[in-house]
Amino acid sequence: MISTAASNALRMAGRRAATGSRFGAARLSSTAASSQQASNNKNAAILATTAGLVAAVAALQQQEQTNKTQNLFGKSAATAVKETEEKFGAYWPRNIMILFGPPGAGKGTHGPKIEELLGIPALSTGDMLRAAVSAGTEVGKKAKAVMAAGGLVSDEIVVGIIRDRIKEDDCKHGFILDGFPRTLAQTKALDKMLAEEGACVTKVIELEVPDSVLEERITGRWIHKKSGRSYHVKYAPPKSMKKDGAGKAVAESMKDDVTGEALMQRGDDTAQALTKRLAGYHNETVPILTHYQPNGIVKAVNANQGMDGVWGEILAALKRGSA
Ligand code: AP5
Repeated sequence: MISTAASNALRMAGRRAATGSRFGAARLSSTAASSQQASNNKNAAILATTAGLVAAVAALQQQEQTNKTQNLFGKSAATAVKETEEKFGAYWPRNIMILFGPPGAGKGTHGPKIEELLGIPALSTGDMLRAAVSAGTEVGKKAKAVMAAGGLVSDEIVVGIIRDRIKEDDCKHGFILDGFPRTLAQTKALDKMLAEEGACVTKVIELEVPDSVLEERITGRWIHKKSGRSYHVKYAPPKSMKKDGAGKAVAESMKDDVTGEALMQRGDDTAQALTKRLAGYHNETVPILTHYQPNGIVKAVNANQGMDGVWGEILAALKRGSA
Protein backbone atom coordinates (compact mmCIF):
# COMPACT_ATOMS: atom_id res chain seq x y z
CA MET A 1 0.00 0.00 0.00
CA ILE A 2 1.10 3.54 -0.70
CA SER A 3 1.31 5.67 2.44
CA THR A 4 -1.60 7.85 3.48
CA ALA A 5 0.73 10.82 3.45
CA ALA A 6 1.70 10.22 -0.14
CA SER A 7 -1.77 9.60 -1.52
CA ASN A 8 -3.38 12.50 0.37
CA ALA A 9 -0.63 14.88 -0.57
CA LEU A 10 -0.83 13.82 -4.19
CA ARG A 11 -4.58 14.41 -4.41
CA MET A 12 -4.49 17.69 -2.49
CA ALA A 13 -1.56 18.89 -4.56
CA GLY A 14 -3.83 19.06 -7.55
CA ARG A 15 -5.89 21.69 -5.75
CA ARG A 16 -3.38 23.52 -3.64
CA ALA A 17 0.11 23.54 -5.10
CA ALA A 18 1.11 26.80 -6.70
CA THR A 19 4.79 26.21 -7.02
CA GLY A 20 7.56 23.70 -6.44
CA SER A 21 10.48 21.94 -8.08
CA ARG A 22 11.92 18.57 -8.78
CA PHE A 23 14.92 19.41 -6.67
CA GLY A 24 12.65 20.64 -3.91
CA ALA A 25 10.98 17.27 -4.01
CA ALA A 26 14.28 15.49 -3.69
CA ARG A 27 15.26 17.66 -0.75
CA LEU A 28 11.96 17.06 0.96
CA SER A 29 12.07 13.33 0.42
CA SER A 30 14.54 12.65 3.18
CA THR A 31 12.36 14.56 5.66
CA ALA A 32 8.92 13.57 4.46
CA ALA A 33 9.59 9.90 4.65
CA SER A 34 12.14 9.54 7.39
CA SER A 35 9.48 7.48 9.08
CA GLN A 36 5.85 6.67 8.43
CA GLN A 37 4.89 8.33 11.71
CA ALA A 38 6.78 11.49 10.91
CA SER A 39 5.15 11.54 7.52
CA ASN A 40 1.67 11.25 9.01
CA ASN A 41 2.41 13.96 11.55
CA LYS A 42 3.52 16.29 8.82
CA ASN A 43 0.58 15.51 6.60
CA ALA A 44 -1.70 18.21 7.92
CA ALA A 45 1.00 20.84 7.62
CA ILE A 46 1.90 19.73 4.14
CA LEU A 47 -1.68 19.93 2.95
CA ALA A 48 -2.01 23.42 4.32
CA THR A 49 0.87 24.72 2.24
CA THR A 50 1.17 25.47 -1.42
CA ALA A 51 4.07 23.01 -1.56
CA GLY A 52 1.63 20.13 -1.59
CA LEU A 53 2.68 18.94 -4.99
CA VAL A 54 6.33 18.89 -4.04
CA ALA A 55 5.51 16.96 -0.89
CA ALA A 56 3.48 14.46 -2.88
CA VAL A 57 6.35 13.83 -5.25
CA ALA A 58 8.76 13.53 -2.35
CA ALA A 59 6.58 11.08 -0.49
CA LEU A 60 6.05 9.02 -3.61
CA GLN A 61 9.75 8.96 -4.38
CA GLN A 62 10.42 7.66 -0.91
CA GLN A 63 7.65 5.11 -1.28
CA GLU A 64 9.29 3.92 -4.45
CA GLN A 65 12.61 3.52 -2.71
CA THR A 66 11.23 1.64 0.26
CA ASN A 67 8.74 -0.63 -1.47
CA LYS A 68 8.81 -0.90 -5.21
CA THR A 69 5.80 -3.18 -5.33
CA GLN A 70 3.36 -0.68 -3.83
CA ASN A 71 0.72 0.83 -6.05
CA LEU A 72 -1.38 3.99 -6.11
CA PHE A 73 -4.75 3.63 -7.79
CA GLY A 74 -3.30 0.71 -9.71
CA LYS A 75 -0.22 2.67 -10.80
CA SER A 76 3.36 2.25 -9.70
CA ALA A 77 4.80 5.05 -7.59
CA ALA A 78 7.17 5.94 -10.44
CA THR A 79 4.27 6.36 -12.87
CA ALA A 80 2.35 8.48 -10.38
CA VAL A 81 5.38 10.71 -9.83
CA LYS A 82 5.91 11.09 -13.57
CA GLU A 83 2.25 11.91 -14.20
CA THR A 84 2.23 14.44 -11.37
CA GLU A 85 5.32 16.14 -12.76
CA GLU A 86 3.79 16.21 -16.22
CA LYS A 87 0.58 17.78 -14.90
CA PHE A 88 2.62 20.34 -13.01
CA GLY A 89 4.63 21.15 -16.14
CA ALA A 90 1.49 21.47 -18.24
CA TYR A 91 -0.92 23.37 -15.98
CA TRP A 92 0.99 25.41 -13.42
CA PRO A 93 2.67 28.73 -14.24
CA ARG A 94 6.42 28.65 -14.76
CA ASN A 95 8.76 30.23 -12.21
CA ILE A 96 10.69 32.74 -14.31
CA MET A 97 13.36 34.79 -12.62
CA ILE A 98 16.05 37.19 -13.70
CA LEU A 99 19.44 37.30 -11.98
CA PHE A 100 20.43 40.91 -12.46
CA GLY A 101 23.68 42.77 -11.82
CA PRO A 102 26.83 44.28 -13.31
CA PRO A 103 29.75 42.20 -14.59
CA GLY A 104 31.36 40.50 -11.61
CA ALA A 105 28.33 40.94 -9.33
CA GLY A 106 28.07 37.19 -8.69
CA LYS A 107 25.42 36.05 -11.19
CA GLY A 108 27.55 33.13 -12.36
CA THR A 109 28.54 32.34 -8.76
CA HIS A 110 25.01 32.12 -7.38
CA GLY A 111 23.02 31.11 -10.50
CA PRO A 112 24.06 27.44 -10.28
CA LYS A 113 23.14 27.38 -6.57
CA ILE A 114 19.63 28.67 -7.30
CA GLU A 115 19.44 26.11 -10.09
CA GLU A 116 20.28 23.35 -7.63
CA LEU A 117 17.88 24.68 -5.01
CA LEU A 118 14.86 25.08 -7.27
CA GLY A 119 15.51 22.40 -9.88
CA ILE A 120 15.09 24.83 -12.77
CA PRO A 121 17.95 25.65 -15.16
CA ALA A 122 20.06 28.82 -15.05
CA LEU A 123 20.38 30.12 -18.60
CA SER A 124 23.41 32.34 -19.14
CA THR A 125 23.45 34.13 -22.48
CA GLY A 126 27.15 34.84 -21.89
CA ASP A 127 27.89 31.08 -21.58
CA MET A 128 25.73 30.31 -24.63
CA LEU A 129 27.49 32.96 -26.70
CA ARG A 130 30.94 31.77 -25.57
CA ALA A 131 29.96 28.22 -26.57
CA ALA A 132 28.91 29.53 -29.99
CA VAL A 133 32.23 31.38 -30.36
CA SER A 134 34.18 28.21 -29.43
CA ALA A 135 32.14 26.12 -31.86
CA GLY A 136 32.67 28.68 -34.63
CA THR A 137 28.95 28.87 -35.51
CA GLU A 138 27.49 31.79 -37.49
CA VAL A 139 26.23 33.34 -34.22
CA GLY A 140 29.68 32.82 -32.69
CA LYS A 141 31.40 34.54 -35.60
CA LYS A 142 29.11 37.56 -35.27
CA ALA A 143 29.51 37.73 -31.47
CA LYS A 144 33.25 37.13 -31.08
CA ALA A 145 34.75 40.59 -31.62
CA VAL A 146 31.90 42.42 -29.89
CA MET A 147 32.27 40.29 -26.78
CA ALA A 148 36.05 40.59 -26.61
CA ALA A 149 35.70 44.39 -26.66
CA GLY A 150 33.06 44.33 -23.93
CA GLY A 151 30.18 45.47 -26.18
CA LEU A 152 26.68 44.03 -26.43
CA VAL A 153 25.77 41.42 -29.01
CA SER A 154 22.73 42.37 -31.12
CA ASP A 155 19.28 42.05 -29.57
CA GLU A 156 18.15 39.92 -32.49
CA ILE A 157 20.80 37.25 -31.80
CA VAL A 158 20.29 36.94 -28.05
CA VAL A 159 16.50 37.07 -28.22
CA GLY A 160 16.63 34.26 -30.80
CA ILE A 161 18.89 32.17 -28.56
CA ILE A 162 16.60 32.57 -25.55
CA ARG A 163 13.40 32.04 -27.53
CA ASP A 164 14.67 28.62 -28.63
CA ARG A 165 16.23 27.65 -25.32
CA ILE A 166 13.18 28.22 -23.12
CA LYS A 167 11.13 25.87 -25.28
CA GLU A 168 13.29 22.95 -24.16
CA ASP A 169 11.84 20.38 -21.81
CA ASP A 170 14.00 21.25 -18.80
CA CYS A 171 12.44 24.75 -18.76
CA LYS A 172 8.89 23.48 -18.36
CA HIS A 173 8.76 24.31 -14.63
CA GLY A 174 10.65 27.59 -15.06
CA PHE A 175 14.15 29.00 -15.54
CA ILE A 176 16.63 31.54 -14.24
CA LEU A 177 17.94 34.14 -16.69
CA ASP A 178 21.56 35.22 -16.12
CA GLY A 179 22.71 38.08 -18.34
CA PHE A 180 19.40 38.43 -20.17
CA PRO A 181 17.61 40.75 -20.78
CA ARG A 182 20.27 43.44 -21.09
CA THR A 183 18.39 46.13 -23.00
CA LEU A 184 14.84 47.43 -22.96
CA ALA A 185 14.33 45.95 -26.42
CA GLN A 186 15.30 42.50 -25.06
CA THR A 187 13.01 43.06 -22.07
CA LYS A 188 10.03 43.81 -24.25
CA ALA A 189 10.80 40.83 -26.48
CA LEU A 190 10.98 38.60 -23.39
CA ASP A 191 7.70 39.91 -21.98
CA LYS A 192 6.04 39.37 -25.35
CA MET A 193 7.26 35.80 -25.80
CA LEU A 194 6.15 34.94 -22.26
CA ALA A 195 2.78 36.66 -22.70
CA GLU A 196 2.12 34.41 -25.69
CA GLU A 197 1.80 31.52 -23.22
CA GLY A 198 0.15 33.58 -20.47
CA ALA A 199 3.38 33.73 -18.46
CA CYS A 200 5.46 36.58 -17.07
CA VAL A 201 8.66 37.26 -15.14
CA THR A 202 8.01 36.31 -11.51
CA LYS A 203 11.08 37.76 -9.77
CA VAL A 204 14.12 39.94 -10.46
CA ILE A 205 17.01 39.45 -8.02
CA GLU A 206 19.20 42.52 -8.28
CA LEU A 207 22.79 42.04 -7.06
CA GLU A 208 23.98 45.47 -5.93
CA VAL A 209 27.75 46.08 -6.00
CA PRO A 210 29.63 49.35 -6.40
CA ASP A 211 31.71 49.60 -9.59
CA SER A 212 34.85 50.15 -7.50
CA VAL A 213 35.05 46.50 -6.34
CA LEU A 214 34.37 44.94 -9.73
CA GLU A 215 37.78 45.31 -11.36
CA GLU A 216 39.44 43.14 -8.71
CA ARG A 217 36.69 40.52 -9.03
CA ILE A 218 36.84 40.42 -12.82
CA THR A 219 40.61 40.44 -13.29
CA GLY A 220 41.09 37.78 -10.57
CA ARG A 221 38.49 35.40 -12.01
CA TRP A 222 39.32 32.00 -13.49
CA ILE A 223 36.69 29.71 -14.95
CA HIS A 224 36.21 26.07 -15.81
CA LYS A 225 35.05 26.34 -19.38
CA LYS A 226 32.95 23.17 -19.62
CA SER A 227 30.92 23.64 -16.42
CA GLY A 228 31.09 27.43 -16.09
CA ARG A 229 32.36 27.04 -12.50
CA SER A 230 33.88 30.31 -11.38
CA TYR A 231 36.96 30.76 -9.16
CA HIS A 232 38.88 33.76 -7.88
CA VAL A 233 42.55 34.01 -6.94
CA LYS A 234 41.66 35.77 -3.69
CA TYR A 235 38.01 35.08 -2.88
CA ALA A 236 37.43 31.56 -4.21
CA PRO A 237 40.80 29.94 -5.05
CA PRO A 238 40.83 26.41 -6.48
CA LYS A 239 42.35 23.83 -4.13
CA SER A 240 45.26 23.34 -6.54
CA MET A 241 46.35 26.99 -6.67
CA LYS A 242 50.03 27.74 -6.04
CA LYS A 243 51.61 31.18 -5.84
CA ASP A 244 54.99 32.33 -7.19
CA GLY A 245 57.56 34.31 -5.21
CA ALA A 246 55.71 37.57 -5.94
CA GLY A 247 52.45 36.12 -4.55
CA LYS A 248 50.88 35.75 -8.01
CA ALA A 249 48.85 32.66 -8.91
CA VAL A 250 50.82 30.23 -11.08
CA ALA A 251 48.70 29.68 -14.22
CA GLU A 252 49.62 25.98 -14.55
CA SER A 253 48.39 25.31 -11.01
CA MET A 254 44.86 26.63 -11.69
CA LYS A 255 42.73 23.48 -11.93
CA ASP A 256 39.01 22.79 -11.51
CA ASP A 257 38.26 21.31 -8.06
CA VAL A 258 35.81 18.78 -9.49
CA THR A 259 37.44 17.53 -12.68
CA GLY A 260 41.08 18.59 -12.22
CA GLU A 261 40.94 20.18 -15.68
CA ALA A 262 42.75 23.42 -16.45
CA LEU A 263 40.99 26.71 -15.65
CA MET A 264 41.09 29.68 -18.02
CA GLN A 265 40.66 33.44 -17.96
CA ARG A 266 38.07 35.06 -20.21
CA GLY A 267 39.26 37.32 -23.03
CA ASP A 268 36.93 40.11 -21.88
CA ASP A 269 38.05 39.97 -18.24
CA THR A 270 40.42 42.93 -18.62
CA ALA A 271 40.23 46.32 -16.94
CA GLN A 272 39.82 47.93 -20.36
CA ALA A 273 36.89 45.78 -21.51
CA LEU A 274 35.31 46.10 -18.05
CA THR A 275 35.04 49.87 -18.49
CA LYS A 276 32.95 49.32 -21.61
CA ARG A 277 30.90 46.52 -20.04
CA LEU A 278 30.06 48.74 -17.06
CA ALA A 279 29.07 51.64 -19.31
CA GLY A 280 26.74 49.29 -21.18
CA TYR A 281 25.33 48.02 -17.89
CA HIS A 282 24.52 51.48 -16.52
CA ASN A 283 23.20 52.93 -19.78
CA GLU A 284 21.32 50.02 -21.29
CA THR A 285 20.64 47.44 -18.58
CA VAL A 286 19.79 49.35 -15.39
CA PRO A 287 16.62 50.91 -16.95
CA ILE A 288 15.18 47.37 -17.01
CA LEU A 289 14.71 47.64 -13.23
CA THR A 290 12.38 50.60 -13.71
CA HIS A 291 10.42 48.51 -16.19
CA TYR A 292 9.78 45.70 -13.68
CA GLN A 293 9.56 47.72 -10.43
CA PRO A 294 5.85 48.60 -10.80
CA ASN A 295 5.11 44.85 -10.78
CA GLY A 296 6.59 44.59 -7.27
CA ILE A 297 8.93 41.76 -8.28
CA VAL A 298 12.34 43.44 -7.99
CA LYS A 299 14.32 42.41 -4.90
CA ALA A 300 17.68 44.03 -4.16
CA VAL A 301 20.49 42.03 -2.54
CA ASN A 302 23.68 43.48 -1.10
CA ALA A 303 26.29 41.64 -3.16
CA ASN A 304 29.16 43.68 -1.71
CA GLN A 305 29.83 41.24 1.12
CA GLY A 306 31.17 37.71 1.54
CA MET A 307 29.64 35.05 -0.71
CA ASP A 308 27.82 33.33 2.17
CA GLY A 309 26.18 36.60 3.18
CA VAL A 310 25.10 37.22 -0.40
CA TRP A 311 23.64 33.70 -0.64
CA GLY A 312 21.69 34.19 2.61
CA GLU A 313 20.09 37.35 1.20
CA ILE A 314 19.34 35.62 -2.09
CA LEU A 315 17.59 32.79 -0.24
CA ALA A 316 15.44 35.32 1.61
CA ALA A 317 14.67 37.15 -1.63
CA LEU A 318 13.60 33.94 -3.35
CA LYS A 319 10.89 33.25 -0.82
CA ARG A 320 7.33 33.95 -1.82
CA GLY A 321 6.08 37.27 -0.53
CA SER A 322 9.57 38.77 -0.29
CA ALA A 323 9.27 40.98 -3.36
P1 AP5 B 1 28.27 37.50 -19.33
O1 AP5 B 1 28.98 36.22 -19.41
O2 AP5 B 1 26.83 37.53 -18.99
O3 AP5 B 1 29.12 38.43 -18.39
P2 AP5 B 1 28.70 39.58 -17.36
O4 AP5 B 1 27.28 39.96 -17.27
O5 AP5 B 1 29.63 40.67 -17.68
O6 AP5 B 1 28.86 38.93 -16.03
P3 AP5 B 1 30.09 38.14 -15.54
O7 AP5 B 1 30.00 36.71 -15.96
O8 AP5 B 1 31.35 38.84 -15.88
O9 AP5 B 1 29.88 38.34 -14.00
P4 AP5 B 1 29.08 37.51 -12.93
O10 AP5 B 1 28.06 38.40 -12.32
O11 AP5 B 1 28.61 36.20 -13.47
O12 AP5 B 1 30.24 37.30 -11.87
P5 AP5 B 1 30.83 35.97 -11.19
O13 AP5 B 1 29.79 35.29 -10.39
O14 AP5 B 1 31.59 35.14 -12.17
O15 AP5 B 1 28.40 38.27 -20.71
C1 AP5 B 1 29.62 38.37 -21.41
C2 AP5 B 1 29.41 39.10 -22.72
O16 AP5 B 1 28.47 38.39 -23.56
C3 AP5 B 1 28.80 40.50 -22.61
O17 AP5 B 1 29.78 41.48 -22.32
C4 AP5 B 1 28.19 40.65 -24.00
O18 AP5 B 1 29.16 40.96 -24.98
C5 AP5 B 1 27.66 39.28 -24.31
N1 AP5 B 1 26.26 39.11 -23.86
C6 AP5 B 1 25.82 38.23 -22.91
N2 AP5 B 1 24.48 38.36 -22.76
C7 AP5 B 1 24.08 39.33 -23.61
C8 AP5 B 1 22.82 39.92 -23.90
N3 AP5 B 1 21.71 39.55 -23.25
N4 AP5 B 1 22.78 40.90 -24.83
C9 AP5 B 1 23.88 41.30 -25.49
N5 AP5 B 1 25.11 40.78 -25.27
C10 AP5 B 1 25.20 39.80 -24.33
O19 AP5 B 1 31.86 36.68 -10.18
C11 AP5 B 1 33.00 37.34 -10.66
C12 AP5 B 1 34.21 36.99 -9.80
O20 AP5 B 1 34.02 37.52 -8.49
C13 AP5 B 1 34.41 35.48 -9.62
O21 AP5 B 1 35.78 35.22 -9.68
C14 AP5 B 1 33.84 35.17 -8.25
O22 AP5 B 1 34.55 34.12 -7.61
C15 AP5 B 1 34.05 36.48 -7.51
N6 AP5 B 1 32.96 36.77 -6.57
C16 AP5 B 1 31.62 36.58 -6.76
N7 AP5 B 1 30.94 36.98 -5.68
C17 AP5 B 1 31.84 37.46 -4.79
C18 AP5 B 1 31.75 38.05 -3.47
N8 AP5 B 1 30.59 38.21 -2.86
N9 AP5 B 1 32.91 38.43 -2.88
C19 AP5 B 1 34.11 38.27 -3.49
N10 AP5 B 1 34.27 37.72 -4.72
C20 AP5 B 1 33.14 37.33 -5.37
